[in-house]
Amino acid sequence: MKASLAQRLSQEGYDGYAYAYPHKTAYRPLDPPVPLAEAWKTEDKRRILLYVHLPFCEMRCGFCNLFTTVQPGVSLVDQTLAAIHRQSEIVAREIQAEGVAQAAFGGGTPSFLTESQLEALFRKLDQDWPIPWDRIPISFEVSPGTVTASKLALLRSRGVDRISLGVQSFVPEDLVALKRPQPKGELAMACELIRNAGFKVFNIDLIYGATGQDATRWQSSLEQALAWRPEEIYLYPLYVGKLTHLDRSGRRPGDDRRERYRQARDFLVGSGYRQISMRLFRRSEVRRDSEHCCQEDGMVGLGPGARSYTRGLHYSTEYAVGQGGVRLIIENFNQRTQADFAEADYGAVLDQTEQKRRFVIKSLLRSEGVSPASYRRLFGSYLDADFPELGELSRMELAENDGHTWRLTSSGLEASDTIGPWLYSPETEERMAAYQLT
Ligand SMILES: C[S@@+](CC[C@H](N)C(=O)[O-])C[C@H]1O[C@@H](n2cnc3c(N)ncnc32)[C@H](O)[C@@H]1O
Ligand code: SF4
Repeated sequence: MKASLAQRLSQEGYDGYAYAYPHKTAYRPLDPPVPLAEAWKTEDKRRILLYVHLPFCEMRCGFCNLFTTVQPGVSLVDQTLAAIHRQSEIVAREIQAEGVAQAAFGGGTPSFLTESQLEALFRKLDQDWPIPWDRIPISFEVSPGTVTASKLALLRSRGVDRISLGVQSFVPEDLVALKRPQPKGELAMACELIRNAGFKVFNIDLIYGATGQDATRWQSSLEQALAWRPEEIYLYPLYVGKLTHLDRSGRRPGDDRRERYRQARDFLVGSGYRQISMRLFRRSEVRRDSEHCCQEDGMVGLGPGARSYTRGLHYSTEYAVGQGGVRLIIENFNQRTQADFAEADYGAVLDQTEQKRRFVIKSLLRSEGVSPASYRRLFGSYLDADFPELGELSRMELAENDGHTWRLTSSGLEASDTIGPWLYSPETEERMAAYQLT
């Protein structure tokens, strides 16, 4: 039986990051596979989000359970890029996109690629997809050790307007505790290069909850981050996932993540940042609007670990965290022909109940909240009747309705990592629990 919200809240309060619903561990082989042309036939294809996943890193950080491989060698990278080129061409042909409204390059570490590999990738995407490079938001993730002035200039010239830098902490002791080696001076150099390159949005990722990170150390990290005037800051509570280096060495997150969160939230809001979600803070004056609406428009993912979404089907390659499992999936991806890329063979079908659930989870966990009117327009039924959970959140003072919109209260926002997983359907929860991670 599903644990009640009160039971869950009385425990640690960090059940999971509901950034996508359903989670990849709820995906299964699709039998028979679904041709992409069919999956996308009735979608609105004017405001697509194009996501390119590059699963390479210089090193495996102790906390990281993302789909990535380290020191891949030249031939593995070349083969993967060739496969992404094949995939891009056939997927574009099958889907017949009418407009790309937003693009993102994530990983792993996309800046692991050389400039000529990046040039070739951008050229290929430009040939295959209707991308108005200068007019849409384009985001690109980098790590400190892979940033150079000329790479950043190339990204700028292609219209990238947001650089996201994985910093994790500005305090060397935290980086040791997180098992994220960082040569002295590299971080400051990367921040300076990014700031000087003139991107509209510079985002800094920080993690709280490392062993020994007390209020003073966390404050120092936050203040050093603000010295670079980032337009956005993502604050991630530390999770120690299965098969990560921290897990293998028996490390657990500190039990003061809630206090660190409150400290950071108050400091950032007091320093002129708007809170967008439990993790995202944006400088008040910054606007970075996209015509892509993640609730209604589809996402096309390219690359070995990318997911793709239509309203009724989410799909991707298989998922793994351990090095052996990740390598195998990348090698299988690299051998795929265009015919293989023309269908989805692994994913989750979302019936209307699951589509509604996804809409509510994704909207509620952001400060803009969930509007009963939008819900009724999209699904033709009543939000409060479909989701009695909102009443429960309200009784516990975790959410409130101002007459137009349901929003999490401040206590609700800080409990996002409990409320999100609590809203998962029992079927999805069961599939996730039965998944064997490799
Ligand atoms: C794709 S990575 C960032 C880019 C780049 N690879 C880097 O690390 O510099 C996305 C972010 O997720 C966060 N993250 C990853 N695993 C995490 C975990 N187990 N707990 C908390 N945050 C995590 C980190 O802040 C990381 O920067
Ligand atoms: S945190 Fe970033 S650099 Fe470290 S292993 Fe994960 S994706 Fe790679």
